[in-house]
Amino acid sequence: MGLWSKKNIDVLMKEADGSGEGGVTLVRSLGALNLTLLGIGAIIGAGIFVLTGTAAAQYAGPGIVLSFVLAGLGCLFAGLCYAEFASMIPIAGSAYTYGYATLGELVAWIIGWDLILEYLFAASTVSVGWAANVVAFFKDTLGVEFPAALTNAPLQADKVTGAISTTGAIINLPAMLLVGALTTMLVLGIQESARLNNVIVFVKVAIVFLVIGFGFMYVTPSNWEPFIPPNTGTFGEFGYSGIVRAAGVIFFAYIGFDAVSTAAQEAKNPQRDLPIGILASLAVCTVLYILMALVMTGMVNYKDLNVANPVYVALAAAGPGLAWLKVLVAIGTIAGLASVVLVMLLAQPRIFLAMSRDGLLPPLFGKVHPRFKTPWVGTIITGTVAAVVAGLFPIDILGELVSIGTLLAFVIVSTGVLVLRYRSPNLHRPFRTPLVPLVPILAVLICGYMMSGLPLGTWIRLLIWLALGLAVYFLYGKEHSKIGRAEAARR
Ligand code: ALA
Repeated sequence: MGLWSKKNIDVLMKEADGSGEGGVTLVRSLGALNLTLLGIGAIIGAGIFVLTGTAAAQYAGPGIVLSFVLAGLGCLFAGLCYAEFASMIPIAGSAYTYGYATLGELVAWIIGWDLILEYLFAASTVSVGWAANVVAFFKDTLGVEFPAALTNAPLQADKVTGAISTTGAIINLPAMLLVGALTTMLVLGIQESARLNNVIVFVKVAIVFLVIGFGFMYVTPSNWEPFIPPNTGTFGEFGYSGIVRAAGVIFFAYIGFDAVSTAAQEAKNPQRDLPIGILASLAVCTVLYILMALVMTGMVNYKDLNVANPVYVALAAAGPGLAWLKVLVAIGTIAGLASVVLVMLLAQPRIFLAMSRDGLLPPLFGKVHPRFKTPWVGTIITGTVAAVVAGLFPIDILGELVSIGTLLAFVIVSTGVLVLRYRSPNLHRPFRTPLVPLVPILAVLICGYMMSGLPLGTWIRLLIWLALGLAVYFLYGKEHSKIGRAEAARR
């Protein structure tokens, strides 16, 4: 019975303005522009700067451009569903709260637990990418080399069996230090964090524009031929199946627009500005990604992009004419990845806050700092766990887990929009997803299709994670759920 209890939307809205423990609330200081920049800050990162190269070289060739279109469409449809919920239920918990209002407590818990895979693990993933870029920058540009044992993951997974083994390294220290520094910043205030984010986003977008603008001058059109290299005989390596597999990989590049919805309680006019923030950040990035992919595959043969710094390699191919841009790209990538980690570390504690308010997590997670007005305990817990994960694991295991977790959240949110349209058609929806049921159904199908392309090992890790979550729910959440207790008291 309690498992399927739903939260009343009016109650949710009332709670939003008195949410923290002891009545201390978050402050509403973000407008539409800040929210859009927050989205762009979360989106442009390791996906475009790091993963595009290997996905083009191994799976899709220049057809990677079509992979960006496919993944972008899946995100657009899911983004339209997020926008409807975010305008209707502008509460800090994002998809977790939408789930609680529509599909019941158990499903809400599963989404909340699943979102840890998205936000907390994405913070770790991207900080690992950041560390690799910093180490490369010091080595290539400044001639300073850090000890490998302190800049690499001590654990790795076998590509075929998925078995975990040690690498001989001790810890990835730079990745941990980045998470530590950003966590401190987030405890001190959201406005300060948003301001830093705005500066970085400006730098990051400027660099993407420069690469697209100058890069186009150095494109050799023959690099785009054949646009879709023939299939090698193996599913997922070139041909149409390669485009789908590459879409599953570069989907990571789009993750983050939904993080806008987690700042709902810090938005000045959430019902209007959250849909703007979600859809505008997604639209801007989709266009930039498609152009970027065209430029990169046009400047060099896709086979040469099988590296961790494909933008740099593409520029290097242009010769001395673009040498000046290489250093800017290296610095922009480092700053850009840091801002992704910042937004992910910002999103996670706000979901914990909502879960703790409902009694599904201990009250500690709901503490808002009296002076800084930030969910400081949740932020520190998030930062600590994210730092440990970043210190121990390599980027590939983490990245795929983040993708599958996020795709699952998109599927559930899109289903939720459909369910609620039929169950409560008259609710006030300041933003309405167009063409329902078509758009939510397409979101579920495209995201589900991309999930199906991810490796078996990733699926197994997802299932283990969800099983762990169910254990926590039945041991703690179910007993402490506020709705569950209220229902028990009534009986
Ligand atoms: N979209 C983010 C990135 O590419 C997570 O790094």
